[in-house]
This record gives sequence, C-alpha cells and structure tokens, in this order.
Amino acid sequence: MKDLTEKIQNAVDTGALLRVTLSGRFDKTVKKCSYAVKSVRGKNVIACEKLMPDGKALHANLPTGGCAEIIAAESACYKQTDVSAKDFTAVVLRSKKGALHIKYGKPAADASVKPEGKNYILDPGVRYDFLVMLGIQDGTGRVHDKKQSKFRQINRFLQIVGDVMPSLPEDGIRVWDLCCGKSYLSFAVYYYMTYVLGKSVTVFCVDRKADVIAECAGYAEGLGWDGLHFICGDIFKCLPEGERPDLMLSLHACDTATDMVLSEAVKRGARVILSSPCCQHELASQIECRELSYVTREPILKQKLSAILTDALRCRLLYACGYKVTTLEFIDPEDTEKSYDPRRKVSDPGEAPDVRAR
Ligand SMILES: C[S@@+](CC[C@H](N)C(=O)[O-])C[C@H]1O[C@@H](n2cnc3c(N)ncnc32)[C@H](O)[C@@H]1O
Repeated sequence: MKDLTEKIQNAVDTGALLRVTLSGRFDKTVKKCSYAVKSVRGKNVIACEKLMPDGKALHANLPTGGCAEIIAAESACYKQTDVSAKDFTAVVLRSKKGALHIKYGKPAADASVKPEGKNYILDPGVRYDFLVMLGIQDGTGRVHDKKQSKFRQINRFLQIVGDVMPSLPEDGIRVWDLCCGKSYLSFAVYYYMTYVLGKSVTVFCVDRKADVIAECAGYAEGLGWDGLHFICGDIFKCLPEGERPDLMLSLHACDTATDMVLSEAVKRGARVILSSPCCQHELASQIECRELSYVTREPILKQKLSAILTDALRCRLLYACGYKVTTLEFIDPEDTEKSYDPRRKVSDPGEAPDVRAR
C-alpha cells in the first residue's frame, strides 16, 4: 500500500487525481466513500463524500497535504478501493483477514481528456453521483453516448452561472427553477455553488409532474442535498407569496409558462434571470401580417418567426423593467443548427435558447 499511497499523494499534488472510491465496507456502516479534488475559493481541497446505508450522504473537505495517508487508512476498512488518475488506475482488493491484492492499470482512453479549448466546470473524466442518478453518467463516470450533448449543455450553463455570480449575494443565495422537469440544471447549480464555490444556497424547483418531482426529491435526499427542494404544482397557482429569489431559472418552460416565470421574476425583484424559451405557440396563432405572408405561409418558418418575435418582445419588456438583457446560445457550437442532425426532433428545446441577466 505504501507505493500506492505515494502515487495517490503525487497525483493529488500534480493535479492528476480524478477520484478514489471505496466500496464494500466490512462493518457496513458506510455504503460507499469517495474522494476527489475540488477547488474552494481558489484553493484545492479533497472533497470526501460518504454515502450512508440510509441513503444520506455526508460531506467533508480535507486538506490536500497528507491526504493520501488518510485515504489509505480509510481504505483498510473496505473490500475494494478504486483509484482513478490521469496517468494510472489501481484496484485494491482486501480480504477481511487483511490479505491485499493491488492491480495497476492504464486510464481509460478518454478519462482525463477535456474537449479541446473548453474550460469545463464538470470534468468528463470524473464521476459525479448526481449525474449518475440523473442517467447522464454510468457507474464508472463515463458520460453515456446519448447524453454527451446534455453534458455539454450543463457545462455551458454552469459557465453562464459562473459569469452572473458577481450579481448574486455573496452567500445564502436563493434560486428558483420553475418548470424544472428532471432538474438537471438545478442539481448542477446546487453542486456548483455548494461544492465548487463553497456557497450556501437554497434551490426551489417547481413542476406540475408529480412523478418527476418525487423522483428528483428522492435523488436529492439520497445525495443528502438538503438545500434542494422540490414542489409539485402549477406555477400559475402555487408560488409562495412574498418570497424573493436571487436567481430565477426558467429553462424550456412550455409556451406562456416562460412569460409567467419572467413576470414573477420581475414582480419579485429577482437579481438575475436565466431563461431559455420553448415552443412559443401563443404568437404563432395571432400573426396576421400581409407584408410577412411570404414567411408565414410556410408553417415551419411561421413558427420560427413567432419564436423570434416572442423572444424579442420578452427582451424589450425586461429591458423596460430595468434589466440588462443579453441573448446568447447556451449550447456548444457543435450542437447548433449548423451541425443539424435530421434525426433530431424540430421541437428539441436545445435548439434556440437564450439567456437574460439583469
Ligand atoms: C420541456 S420541459 C423542461 C424541463 C427542464 N426545465 C429542462 O430544461 O430540462 C417543460 C416542463 O415544464 C413543466 N410545466 C409546463 N407548464 C407548467 C406549469 N404551468 N406549472 C408547472 N410546470 C409546468 C412541464 O411539466 C415540463 O416538465
């Protein structure tokens, strides 16, 4: 174990450690334990997560200096230890009587490779429990082929959240995600603000789909993320009076639900609104313009025109309410229409998002 302990410490010191996972604790008091390097206020620490038998997760940060000794000592309580670094992997198998077997290997081909030129917040080579639960990564941390663009979109979104952080309170940030659906982005925002930036954050997610809300609430409980709350209801009816979100999210909220979110955000004085629209039907059924009939006679073009006009109107209204307004893509260029895949549905909400920040 001495050689491996040195290798782990070296990997930590050189920024090459991806993850250490301990499983099969002999006394069954912990289900699984993992260690990964994370940056808190610009300083690297070792984030330890212990998944308990009741589904809760305990988190602690260790200093990087001497951490390998601590990890090695903890490893003695587990049947298996998996070490993943950029330049090596190791599997440690231990019997109850203490017999030890260590097997070294090479890292998976793409384990440590970030897409070129991308400053990703979530590393494609690292396993994130919330992404495994949400079906974006498999148990080893590999992003599923079909979820690659979702993974890129989450990362792009986190970069945008990073950009608006200076407009949010230093701590005690309140986030609302209305029409949250499976809440990929809320989980990611919670992870980013809590574990990467070290902020305290409360996220309220609302959707009318009871099964999806129950599933997400289960994941949050399993992760022990007690600042992440899920509420089942219609956003037109169930929003609490008098509450003020700092950051309002509305991502692909259907049709006029986006307008409802924007209106609530303005009324409540949200500091930042990040919104990507979805399926704007409202205006499409109302456009009557002889001069534009050469566009509106084509159903697809009419739909696109109404989407653009709807977004332009929303931007102007937000501007009139005192917000600084910016529209931008929050997906990778390789996922835009230039690389249009004819198998993708035209209504895929990933195609034309925009973002607004005060
Ligand atoms: C296209 S999904 C987007 C989900 C998620 N925000 C995302 O970007 O992955 C739209 C979601 O809005 C929810 N929704 C639409 N209108 C709603 C309303 N009035 N109240 C609550 N949820 C609503 C739907 O149930 C659905 O889950």
